[in-house]
Amino acid sequence: MTDTIPRTSSVQDAIETRRSIRRFVQEPLDQSDLREILRLASLAPSANNVQPWRFAVVQNPTLQADLQAASYNQLQVTNAPAVIMLYADMEDVLASAEETLHPNMADEEKRTRAQRLRSSFEPQSVAERAAWANAQANIALGYLLIAARGLGYDTVPMLGFEPEKVRALLGLPEHVQITAIVPLGRRAEEGFPHHRHSVQRLTTFY
Ligand SMILES: Cc1cc2nc3c(=O)[nH]c(=O)nc-3n(C[C@H](O)[C@H](O)[C@H](O)COP(=O)(O)O)c2cc1C
Repeated sequence: MTDTIPRTSSVQDAIETRRSIRRFVQEPLDQSDLREILRLASLAPSANNVQPWRFAVVQNPTLQADLQAASYNQLQVTNAPAVIMLYADMEDVLASAEETLHPNMADEEKRTRAQRLRSSFEPQSVAERAAWANAQANIALGYLLIAARGLGYDTVPMLGFEPEKVRALLGLPEHVQITAIVPLGRRAEEGFPHHRHSVQRLTTFY
């Protein structure tokens, strides 16, 4: 299957041809492509390299039907061969801070830096630092959408869902912040042409 999927030739091409797609070709997803998309998304940068994004991948029609019900019945949730739940888990980041430090760093230095990171977030509430982590996870969301397109796949990022219901369905703890639900597959529709502000409208040059 992989060999027949046209990939984009450049980042520019991936960005130009990405559109929100809500109807997908009905076929299972190539699992090595799926892993590659997740790997590329996880190359996103984050403050202090904390990498607070986590992925829950659903390829199960029954669970997808439940997720669709928790997403205001948006049909793309069951139409896609896979649904990626991208969420931020700052509590996991703090509990395992040593893991995100460079492997060449000495153990003592790792402990000191990890402790410094924990201390810097201590004054914040769990909700405040979840919001901070969610902002970082949105960078990975952008990477995910472009990586998928680059490998010849399509997506629609979604915020139209009830987070408590989605968390319950996936058994995720209350402290995690769901960044987006992302149905993923090959497009069976063209989507809408881009309609965007001009650079001039958006930018002030000094
Ligand atoms: C954070 C975010 C949340 C979105 N939520 C939904 C959603 O719940 N359902 C949906 O059909 N589209 C959703 N969209 C898709 C937008 O409608 C779409 O990106 C926008 O209209 C621009 O179209 P394009 O993606 O085709 O360029 C969302 C997009 C983003 C970035």
